[in-house]
Amino acid sequence: MVSYKELGLVNTREMFAKAIKGGYAIPAFNFNNMEQLQAIIKASAETKSPVILQVSKGARNYANQTLLRYMAQGAVEYAKELGWEHPQICLHLDHGDSFELCKSCVDFGFSSVMIDASSLPYEENIALTKKVVEYAHQYDVTVEAELGVLAGVEDEVSSAVSHYTKPEEVVDFATRTGCDSLAISIGTSHGAYKFTPEQCTRDPKTGKLVPPPLAFDVLDAIMEQLPGFPIVLHGSSSVPQEYVDMINQYGGKLPDAVGIPEEQLRKAAKSAVCKINIDSDSRLAFTAAVRKVFAEKPGEFDPRKYCGPARDLMEELYKHKIINVLGSNGHAE
Ligand code: G3H
Ligand code: 13P
Ligand code: ZN
Repeated sequence: MVSYKELGLVNTREMFAKAIKGGYAIPAFNFNNMEQLQAIIKASAETKSPVILQVSKGARNYANQTLLRYMAQGAVEYAKELGWEHPQICLHLDHGDSFELCKSCVDFGFSSVMIDASSLPYEENIALTKKVVEYAHQYDVTVEAELGVLAGVEDEVSSAVSHYTKPEEVVDFATRTGCDSLAISIGTSHGAYKFTPEQCTRDPKTGKLVPPPLAFDVLDAIMEQLPGFPIVLHGSSSVPQEYVDMINQYGGKLPDAVGIPEEQLRKAAKSAVCKINIDSDSRLAFTAAVRKVFAEKPGEFDPRKYCGPARDLMEELYKHKIINVLGSNGHAE
């Protein structure tokens, strides 16, 4: 058993309380490799933003759970080295799908876990979530749960359609499970194809797809039922057009990729939405930078020469999210 406190990590309780009060959201960035982690920590340290490092089941399998944990511990030390005196870094399991996986993360030094039982029937979701909460809370590890189902396919969490969270269920769910935060479905989804072209309109000037707005009426109704309760938005990448264009220009093929417009995320961040999940945008930045080097310098074979530019572009992206979208900069001085 390793306590996250020994690793210098923090859980989400205080982060979320401050974020709701301050009208901003904490970035939850997924990481799978060293370059992503370096970019996240540099961006957070330079902007003094609290941050959630998210590890999916897939990331754990890809990078090795032991290595990931030491990387997170190393991240705290790296942050201090960069001049961030009191780093506010949370290590979080993204989309945990079983009690055993959540328990293993709690035992392994994670400071927060998500149990995603949203695809199960309501009562089963409650029972599994409650079991995880009871275990995690013994070690002061916070728990995110999910109610409502996101569209799209990601991380073995799949659903063909989106079922918005039912506001009339949230009080019963939060009370009976004891969860610390709730991921809701209001129209976001995972990946770089969040809406089909048929669901969008086209901007007559640019010809680009304009996605439909998120269901803010559902969010408002949830906040009315659970005033001040921490709400989480998954699937919140914006799929920046410049990265999609770069990928397509340098030999990739991402036709009609579309994400959540930034102004909608800015609006959400000012509400009880206090954690915003971003993974795909970082993947797009990484891929765009690597493709550019490969196209322009076909003779390059030193990974540092293409992973380095990828890392720089991701850092720029993370800073932009922190400062211009979530507003979390300066909240972890
Ligand atoms: O929501 C899921 C995250 O984007 C993680 O995806 O399972 O491919 O690591 P992954
Ligand atoms: P995106 O695919 O929109 O980046 O969402 C990531 C996410 O929700 C991770 O849990
Ligand atoms: Zn997610």
